[in-house]
Amino acid sequence: MLITGANRGLGLDFVRRLAPEGWHIHACYRNPAKATDLQALADRHDVTLHALDVADFAQIDALKKTLGNEPIDVLFNNAGIMETIQRTLSLDHTNQMFDTLDEDEWMAVMRVNIMAPMRLCEVFVDNVAASARKQMLMMSSIVGSIGSNQTGRWYHYATSKTALNMVMRSLAADLKDRGITVMSLHPGWTQTDMGGPSAALTIDESVGGMVAVIKNLTPADSGRFIAWKGEDVPW
Ligand SMILES: NC(=O)c1ccc[n+]([C@@H]2O[C@H](COP(=O)([O-])OP(=O)(O)OC[C@H]3O[C@@H](n4cnc5c(N)ncnc54)[C@H](OP(=O)(O)O)[C@@H]3O)[C@@H](O)[C@H]2O)c1
Repeated sequence: MLITGANRGLGLDFVRRLAPEGWHIHACYRNPAKATDLQALADRHDVTLHALDVADFAQIDALKKTLGNEPIDVLFNNAGIMETIQRTLSLDHTNQMFDTLDEDEWMAVMRVNIMAPMRLCEVFVDNVAASARKQMLMMSSIVGSIGSNQTGRWYHYATSKTALNMVMRSLAADLKDRGITVMSLHPGWTQTDMGGPSAALTIDESVGGMVAVIKNLTPADSGRFIAWKGEDVPW
């Protein structure tokens, strides 16, 4: 597996669960000072660490050079941001409201949440196609669901996740002939730095559910948008 944003939150918990099961994991982080928990896992398991800011496409190309043609069973685009300044989500979140939007900020969110996952899928497609599982996963959000949107706001983040789901559907169609399964996950509102302490789910509940979903994926699931418990999320 290659997973982005693996140093904290949901990404770290995937590594914490799968590494002891014997998975070989390429775990990406940005800042070594914020990757001490990940380093501790790498010290004990088959986890290789890579510095990767997904917004810097030259770093993605450099990682491809490092990994060469190594098969990658699961390419997991987990890294994501709500905004460039780290803040926790709350239901009374006042940012990204109508009439307060910042286009440069919006572009920065789009680059991390959509363009970078697309770039990673393009750069590593041969590695995934050469693997046994052949899976590309996108960490999306129900906030990107058009059908579920009754609250408005969160324009930057919500539109990025909606677009990520469309990227996922196009990849599922384009890569079907190569046997690659592509899908989006909604982790639930979870108690990470992004989700905040009031969130509904613990990291354990969210990632535990998603791991079960991922382990049971088949090619017939390609193109689906699935929540942490396995049910489809409305588009
Ligand atoms: N928590 C929720 O309730 C929730 C709900 C729906 C969807 N999600 C999605 O789940 C994913 C993980 O979220 P989380 O809750 O675990 O958030 P988090 O605790 O804020 O962690 C975000 C992770 O993404 C990394 N990241 C951010 N920008 C990056 C960049 N440019 N390059 C590389 N890595 C970058 C962060 O690295 P640094 O430590 O270097 O910043 C961190 O590892 C995101 O895609 C998020 O949108 C979360």
